[in-house]
Amino acid sequence: MTKPFLSIEGLTKRFSAKGKAEDLVVFDDVFLNIEQGEFVCIIGHSGCGKSTILNILAGLDEPTSGGVIMDGKEIAGPSLDRGVVFQNYSLLPWLSALQNVIFGVKARWPNWTKGKVEEHSRKYLEMVGLGASMHRKPAQLSGGMRQRVSIARAFATQPKLLLLDEPFGALDALTRGVIQDELIKIWSESHQTVFMITHDVDEAILLADRILLMTNGPNARVAESVKVSLPRPRERAQIIEHPGYYKIRNHLVNFLVKRSGELAGTKNSDRQHPENIDPLAESPEPVPADPPARAKSDRPLRSVS
Ligand SMILES: Nc1ncnc2c1ncn2[C@@H]1O[C@H](COP(=O)(O)OP(=O)(O)O)[C@@H](O)[C@H]1O
Ligand SMILES: [Mg+2]
Repeated sequence: MTKPFLSIEGLTKRFSAKGKAEDLVVFDDVFLNIEQGEFVCIIGHSGCGKSTILNILAGLDEPTSGGVIMDGKEIAGPSLDRGVVFQNYSLLPWLSALQNVIFGVKARWPNWTKGKVEEHSRKYLEMVGLGASMHRKPAQLSGGMRQRVSIARAFATQPKLLLLDEPFGALDALTRGVIQDELIKIWSESHQTVFMITHDVDEAILLADRILLMTNGPNARVAESVKVSLPRPRERAQIIEHPGYYKIRNHLVNFLVKRSGELAGTKNSDRQHPENIDPLAESPEPVPADPPARAKSDRPLRSVS
């Protein structure tokens, strides 16, 4: 069997809790595989450890135990192979938007001429709609515009793995739609692998091949890996008409409303990996929007593949 592009193996994060005998176990023994070119979203309630996982993938945080292998090499520290967009845009305040992007591009391709670096950087700023504001410094940009600069910077360096921590949260709905479309365009042309945290189930269905669902913390885990087998290209106005759309959406919402809490603190039945679920491969009977809680052995809403 060939090794997956990204393999998360037994990842555990604990913090020693002040004044308490026991550590805070954020998540414990998380195993996940991500294939090259996959677009994966992760959803879970606040505090379950999504950003911690993403920061470990970025090499900016260390697990208490376990590790991550990318492309056959263990992740140890940050690398230009992994680009990050944080929830709170992180730009160098003394540089203009363009210089911020150039900074990343120069580091990535040190042998490029000045002209080529600038042309490439401008292209990505134009792509996120900042062509007219690229000489402004972060303090002269709105929150949404700053976030677009960090998105442009991450995209421009064309990392093998793009790590996005709720990147569109600060954007208005219209801009978010435009940037989501750009992200999909870049991703489908570049074969980059994307790992993205979002709290928006509709955004996840529009973008992802697979949606990982985390239970509530502490002792959180990735309980389910939900396949989004809606055909691509997906148009936001059209996919909501697809008969499978609400099956997937109901499954996700039901997890967030009920199962994320019910399953909190429990273990995966296969200790190592989340349960694989394809809501569209299930029986054609309509899925009730709010099914009664069922015993673990009696779960017709899930298919294990
Ligand atoms: N430095 C730290 N010390 C103690 N607890 C922390 C620290 N950093 C994060 N945590 C805790 O880890 C948990 C997961 O945080 P985080 O990964 O930011 O969650 P999410 O992104 O899912 O909202 C939270 O309960 C948070 O309070
Ligand atoms: Mg977070």
